[in-house]
Amino acid sequence: MGLIIISNREPYAPKRGEDGELRWVPSIGGLTAALDPALQHAGGTWIAWGEELPEISEVDLPQDAPRYRLKRLRLSEAEVRDFYYGFSNRALWPMSHYFIGRTKYQTATWRAYVNVNRRFAKAAVESYREGDLIWVHDYQLALVPRMIREALPHARIGFFWHIPWPSAEVFRTLPWDRELLDGLLGADLIGMHTQDYVRYFQIACERVLGAETEGDTVRWQDHISRMVARPIGIEVETFEELATSPEVEEEADRIRRTLQTQILLGVDRLDYTKGIPERLEAFDAFLDRHPEARGRVTLLQIAVPSRERVESYRQLRAQVEGLVGRINGKHTRDGWSPVQYIYRGVSREELVAHYRAADVMLVTPLRDGLNLVAKEFAASSRDGVLILSRFAGAADEMPEALQVNPYNVDGLAGTLLEALQMPLDEKKARLQRLRERLKQSDLHAWAEGFIQELAAT
Ligand code: ADP
Ligand code: F6P
Repeated sequence: MGLIIISNREPYAPKRGEDGELRWVPSIGGLTAALDPALQHAGGTWIAWGEELPEISEVDLPQDAPRYRLKRLRLSEAEVRDFYYGFSNRALWPMSHYFIGRTKYQTATWRAYVNVNRRFAKAAVESYREGDLIWVHDYQLALVPRMIREALPHARIGFFWHIPWPSAEVFRTLPWDRELLDGLLGADLIGMHTQDYVRYFQIACERVLGAETEGDTVRWQDHISRMVARPIGIEVETFEELATSPEVEEEADRIRRTLQTQILLGVDRLDYTKGIPERLEAFDAFLDRHPEARGRVTLLQIAVPSRERVESYRQLRAQVEGLVGRINGKHTRDGWSPVQYIYRGVSREELVAHYRAADVMLVTPLRDGLNLVAKEFAASSRDGVLILSRFAGAADEMPEALQVNPYNVDGLAGTLLEALQMPLDEKKARLQRLRERLKQSDLHAWAEGFIQELAAT
């Protein structure tokens, strides 16, 4: 029995070094980081969009000790524009995160979405061998389960939806609400990060399709799909080991020596769902309210460029850069600037060194399916405090974080003070409890649990 994983983003991207040699570099993002070890363990096939060097159609990975085959779909320029930037990231992404005002529902991009989903499904059917398990991922590929089911009625098909599932009222703004649900309900097992998302999904199935729901199931057209709420985990021990390695400790010390203040840290893709402007406004309000903190606290914001061909993302970048400039212009003095802004992806080591150096981690999305950064920080920190938005899926599992409403800028400014003044014993106790829970449901348990349940369907 092999495993077939299907996702839009590939686990490694090819990069040609200056020496002309081809290297497969891990992609940034939670989804691919989670599934690569699972597929290395099970062996099989991964089907994804080959963005860089699309002429390479297949490769065995990881490069130095291959364990599975990556099949790369070559998307045309128009498909990338309409399927990825268009429907996935201008319709489904904002709708699922409750940003209805940012959606663009266009029939042309919907058609591209259907066609590209069909191409992914066809590749899966071609790779399929009797007994294989098929696991499809995320909102870019919601129609794939139904399309595979039509060709392979007896295949075992799983689906994981990695972003929030919104309330039924919001979901019903999508002109293709029926088609999307029908596509997903081709799967035998559908996973989401929280029980709330599962409940909202079932309500949508009842209202939009008239499907029957009972317990954790949805019955639609004589087929039963089972739902499971299972938040994704991280490789806790890998983060702990990296965080305590001499190189990372040294880099963390270097960061602290350079800044010479307490450190507030933000690490995000530059996405309007992540609440970065609100976080900056809260820090500004904090400095206004506590002039004594000037020169003593720095906000270090690391943002990875993301989806820059979408207007909302370009606007956000300009907004964030404007705010950083305004806040620095207002408060900078005697060689101290309140906000340090890094606009690029950083290596895993550099990232963990920043987690290690931070006194307070700010994870304040306006809405987030789960948020892995919160978990990575909790696994890596020495004695830092996590401030976490109540609108991140991870909040359910992390009650020891200081939970905030990111829309309440004054409230967040108050929580900053509480975090910066928290006694050491309390910080350590909170972190320890967070870590114990992370270990109980780590990344491997997440992937293996889902695969086992799928195998049993
Ligand atoms: P999303 O899936 O919306 O991007 P998550 O927080 O769930 O949000 O996952 C983001 C992943 O990307 C995490 O594993 C995090 O470590 C990584 N990441 C985020 N920002 C950076 C950055 N600037 N450099 C490197 N990795 C980053
Ligand atoms: O977890 C949500 C998600 O959209 C993944 O599907 C995706 O791989 C990741 O965030 C990063 O986004 P993108 O692939 O659009 O760069």
